[in-house]
Amino acid sequence: MEHDIKAILSQMTMEEKAGLCSGLDFWHFKGVERLGVPSVMVSDGPHGLRKQDESGDHLGINDSIKAVCFPPAVLSACSFDRELMERLGDVIGCEAQAADLAVVLGPGVNIKRSPLCGRNFEYFSEDPYLAGEVAAAFVKGVQKHHVGTSIKHFAANNQETRRMTCSSEADERTLREIYLPAFEKAVKEAQPYTVMCSYNRVNGTFASENDWLLNKVLRDEWGFEGLVVSDWGAVNERVKGLAAGLDVEMPASGGITDAQIVAAVKDGTLDEAVLDQAAERILTLIFRYEEHREQRELTLEADHAFARKAAQESMVLLKNDGILPLKADESVLFVGEYAEKPRYQGGGSSHINSFKVSDAMSAAKKLGTVSFAKGFSGAEDIYDEALAAEAIEAAKKADKVVVFAGLPDSFESEGYDRAHMDLPACQNRLIAELAAVNPNLVVVLHNGAPVTLPWLDKARGLLEAYLGGQAGGEAAADILFGVVNPSGKLAETFPVKLSDNPSYLNFGGKETVEYREGVFVGYRYYDKKEMAVNFPFGHGLSYTTFTYSNMKLNSADMTEGETLSVSVDVTNTGAVAGKETVQLYVGDRTGKVQRPIRELKGFAKVELAPGETKTVTMTLDSRAFSWYSVELHDWYAFSGEYEIAVGASSRDIRLSETLSYRTNRALPLHIGINTTIGDLLENEKAKPLGEKLIRMMDAFFGADSQGDSDAASEAMGDDMMDAIAASQPLRGIVSFGIMTPEELQSEIAKYTD
Ligand code: BGC
Repeated sequence: MEHDIKAILSQMTMEEKAGLCSGLDFWHFKGVERLGVPSVMVSDGPHGLRKQDESGDHLGINDSIKAVCFPPAVLSACSFDRELMERLGDVIGCEAQAADLAVVLGPGVNIKRSPLCGRNFEYFSEDPYLAGEVAAAFVKGVQKHHVGTSIKHFAANNQETRRMTCSSEADERTLREIYLPAFEKAVKEAQPYTVMCSYNRVNGTFASENDWLLNKVLRDEWGFEGLVVSDWGAVNERVKGLAAGLDVEMPASGGITDAQIVAAVKDGTLDEAVLDQAAERILTLIFRYEEHREQRELTLEADHAFARKAAQESMVLLKNDGILPLKADESVLFVGEYAEKPRYQGGGSSHINSFKVSDAMSAAKKLGTVSFAKGFSGAEDIYDEALAAEAIEAAKKADKVVVFAGLPDSFESEGYDRAHMDLPACQNRLIAELAAVNPNLVVVLHNGAPVTLPWLDKARGLLEAYLGGQAGGEAAADILFGVVNPSGKLAETFPVKLSDNPSYLNFGGKETVEYREGVFVGYRYYDKKEMAVNFPFGHGLSYTTFTYSNMKLNSADMTEGETLSVSVDVTNTGAVAGKETVQLYVGDRTGKVQRPIRELKGFAKVELAPGETKTVTMTLDSRAFSWYSVELHDWYAFSGEYEIAVGASSRDIRLSETLSYRTNRALPLHIGINTTIGDLLENEKAKPLGEKLIRMMDAFFGADSQGDSDAASEAMGDDMMDAIAASQPLRGIVSFGIMTPEELQSEIAKYTD
C-alpha cells in the first residue's frame, strides 16, 4: 500500500514533527503511532550487520546478533570491481531485510589522507574517483531492497584525533577535488537514502550545522533527495543544525532538542517549512522501507561463501619472485598466530559478531602439506624467545615459510589514530630471522592501512590480505596455493616511510588540522615529487601476465561538453586464466595550473583465459579533464594538450596518447592597475593589449638589443626583458610616463568583460 506522505504530514502536530527529528533510542527512528507511522531500526555497518538487540552503543562494545563479516572497505575497494561491490551491497541489503533494518550505516568514503587514520580500514581509498565508483555500486546494491544506506562521514573526516571537535581546514579547491567527489558521485548516481554528517568541523563550522555543505553543496548542487542524519552524538546546536539541513539527530536526545525545535518555530527563529521538510524526508524513508518489506531469512552460510569470494577478488599480491603459488607437494611452514586466528576486521562501531571465522591454516591443510609454528603472539609487541626459536628451527627444515604478520587490534581502531606506521617490532625481527635461515619466505599481511616493510628485499613473496572479513583465511589460502589467481590492486600507496606522506607535517591536529598539501594526496603527491614508494597506487600482481596494445582514442580532439572514448586491447600472455584491472589516467599538460601529474579517471576489470584478448573501452567526459575553479565556482579545463594513459598501476603506464582539448570558456580576467602585462599576454582576449604595451615599452626604452653595445646586451638579454615586461604591473606604464592614467583606463575598459 502506498502512503500519502503529504496527507500524513498535514495531520501531525508540531511536537510530533519535531519528535521525528531525533532518534527514539540508540538505533531507532521514531514513528507516530496514532497515524500509523512505524518506528524503524538502523544499524552499522559498512561491511555486515551489527544489529544490537539489547543495550545499544556506537563503539562496538556490546554484543550484536550473529552475522557475516564481509571484507571491510580497505579490502573490498582493491577489487576495483563495480559488479562485485554492487553484489556485496545486494547481499547486505537482503540480510538487512531479514533482520528488519531500514538503513545500513555505510559505506564510509572518507579519503585516506594519512596511513595513520585509525579508521582507514573502514574507508575505500586515497583516490576520490575509485572511492566514488565503488561506493555508488555498493549503494545501488543495498537499495535494490529498499533498505537505505548512509554514506559517511560527510565531510573531511580524515583523522580520529579529537574527531568530535577538530576543524578540518581545507581550501575549497581541495575539498571539491579530493574530499567531496566520492560523496558527489554516490549521490548523483545512486541517491543514498541518507547521508551521515561527520563529527568534525569543516573550516570552523560543525558538519552537523554546515549550511554550505548540507544545503548548498549536497542538496542544491548535487540534487540529494534523501535525509541527513547526524553521526552518533555529532549534534552541537540542534536548531542551527536543522536549519542547515540536518534532518535527524542520532541517537535519542531525551526530548530536549525536540523541545528546542518547537520553541524555535514558535518564537520565529526557525521557519516551520524547514521542520516540515525534514519530517517529510523522514516519513519518505520510513515508508519506502515499510512498503517494500521482503520476507527473508538470514542465509549465513551462503553469505559466508560470498564473503570468501569478495576477499579472493580483492587481496593484493604485492610481490612474487617466482615463489608463489605454493605447490601441494612442498613442505610449507606457516608462522604467526594470524594463520590460525586471523585479524579480519577492525575495532569500533563496525565490529561484527561473526557467526563463524575461517582461518588460513585449516583451509591450507586441504590444499597442501602445511605445518604450523606460532612464532609470536598477535596480541602484543613482545618478542617471545621460545616461540621464535621453535619457529626458526622449523623453518630450517621447510621448503617454504609463510609468515602471517599484521597489526594487533590495539594498533588501529576507531576513536584514535595510529602512533606510527610500523608492524610490531617483534614481528619485524622474527621475519628477518626466518629469512636468514630460509630464503624461501612469503609474508601475508593483516592490516587496515599501510605498514613499513623493513624486510621487503628479504621476502620473495608478499600478499596483502588486509582485513579479510570472516572468510579471509580461506581466501588467503586459496591465493597462496593458486586455487584462485589474485586480481586485487592497491587502492592506496605504500610509502617507504611515514615521513614521505604528504600530510606528515600537518596530521593529527587537535583544535584544527590544516590540509596544507592541498590536492596532492596519495599518489598525486608521490608522483609529483618523483618519490620512490614501496608499492604504488593501483599495483597488484597476478599469476599470469597481461600485455596492452592497440590503444585508440575515438578522436584526437575534444571540445568541452563532448565525450572521449578510449579503447585498448588486453591479452593474457601467461598460462593461467586471470583478471586484470585496466586503469585510465588523465594528465593536464597545458602547464597553466598546478595539478597532479595524472589522476585516475576510469578503470575496468576483465577476465581473460590464457591467450585471450579483449578490447576494453572507457569513456571520459569534460569533468575528467577539469580542476575546480573557485573563481568560476565550477569545474574547468584549459584548452591545450592532455595525456591519456592506460596502465596496470599508477606507475606502470603501458600506453599513452595525447588529446587536444578545447573549451570556449575563459577564466574571467579582472584588469586593474596591478594586473601584469604577462597576465594580459596569457589571456586570449587581452593579448592584443599586452602586445601593444610591450611595443610601447620597447619604443620608450629603445630596447632593441640588436643595436645595443655588447655590455648592454650582456646586462640585459631579451629573455630578461621579456620576463621583466611579463611581471610589470600596468601602473608602471603610467609612472614611466608612457601613458596618462586616463589613457590606460580607457585601454583597460576596452578589454574588461
Ligand atoms: C561512528 C559511525 C557509526 C555510529 C553508529 C559512530 O561513532 O562514527 O560510523 O555509524 O557511531 O554506531
